Amino acid sequence: MSTQDFDWHGRHVVITGGSSGIGEALATAAAARGATLTLLARGADRLAAVAEPLGATGVACDVSDRDAVTGALATAAADRGPVDVLVCSAGITLPGRFLEAEDQTFRDMIDVDYYGTLWPVRAVAPSMVARRTGSIIGVASAAALVGVYGYAAYGAAKFAVRGLFETLRTELVPHGVHVGCVYPPDVDTPMLAAENLVKPAETRAIAGSIKPISAEQVARAIMRGVEKGQAEIYADAQTRALARTVAAAPGLYRKLFDQRVRKG
Ligand SMILES: NC(=O)c1ccc[n+]([C@@H]2O[C@H](COP(=O)([O-])OP(=O)(O)OC[C@H]3O[C@@H](n4cnc5c(N)ncnc54)[C@H](OP(=O)(O)O)[C@@H]3O)[C@@H](O)[C@H]2O)c1
Repeated sequence: MSTQDFDWHGRHVVITGGSSGIGEALATAAAARGATLTLLARGADRLAAVAEPLGATGVACDVSDRDAVTGALATAAADRGPVDVLVCSAGITLPGRFLEAEDQTFRDMIDVDYYGTLWPVRAVAPSMVARRTGSIIGVASAAALVGVYGYAAYGAAKFAVRGLFETLRTELVPHGVHVGCVYPPDVDTPMLAAENLVKPAETRAIAGSIKPISAEQVARAIMRGVEKGQAEIYADAQTRALARTVAAAPGLYRKLFDQRVRKG
C-alpha cells in the first residue's frame, strides 16, 4: 500500500489485545476513521463490551495458541476481507527480581509476549506478501531498548519481539509490506496498574518522576506510524531519546540506571 495517502476507511484492521489499554484506544481511534475491526483477546465479556459500541468483531482467542490464532484470522479474512493492518498489542507482564522469579514466569512471557506476537504475524504475512500490501505492527516496550531491573522475563520477551520485527522488516519490505515496532514507555493502562502492585522498589526508582503517558497517545503514534510507514514507532520524545542514546553510548544508561537502583 502507499503509505503517503493512507486511508483507514474500510481497511480491515486486526488488533490483538483490543479489549483493553493500548489496543482498546487504537480500536476506538481506528473505528472513528472508518476501519473495519477485528479484535482478539481471551476475556469474552470485556471484548464484547469494547467491540459492540465500535461496530467491531470481537473474537475470544488466546494468542499463544497457534491453531486458535490461525483459525480466528482465517475466519476474519473470509468474513471481512484480507487483513490490511495487524497490530499485535496483546501482552502480559510480571515484574520481579530475577533471583525470586518462578521459572513459569519466563515461559509465560515468551508464550504470550513473543509467540503471541509471532502467530498472528505468521497467519497474515503470506497474504500480505501475495497482495504486495499491508502493515504489520509489533508492540515491544522501552524495556526492549535497554535492560531494566525487574524485567528479566518481560524484557527478554520484548527484546525477542524487537529482534523479530527488525528481521521481518528486512524480509517483507521488498514485498511491499510495511513492518513497524512500537516502543512505549510506562502507559496508563490496567496492565500498569496491576504491575505497580508488585513492582520492586528498584524498578520504580528507574522510572523516577517520569509520568506514564496515555494509551490514546500511543494509539495516535501507531496510526501515524502506519500512515508514514515507520520502522520504529515512538509515542514520546523521551523514549525516542533513550533509543538514540542507548545506541550511541550504551554505558551512559547503564551507569544512570545502576545509580537509581542503588538509591531505590
Ligand atoms: N502499559 C504499559 O506501561 C506498557 C508499556 C510498554 C509496552 N506495553 C505493551 O503494550 C501492550 C498492551 O499493553 P496494555 O498496557 O494495553 O495492557 P492491558 O491493558 O493489560 O491489555 C492487554 C490486552 O491483551 C490481552 N491479552 C493478554 N494476554 C492475552 C492472551 N494470551 N491472548 C489474547 N489476548 C491477551 C488482554 O485481554 P485478556 O486478558 O482478556 O486476554 C487485553 O486485551 C502489551 O504488549 C504490553 O506489553 C505496555
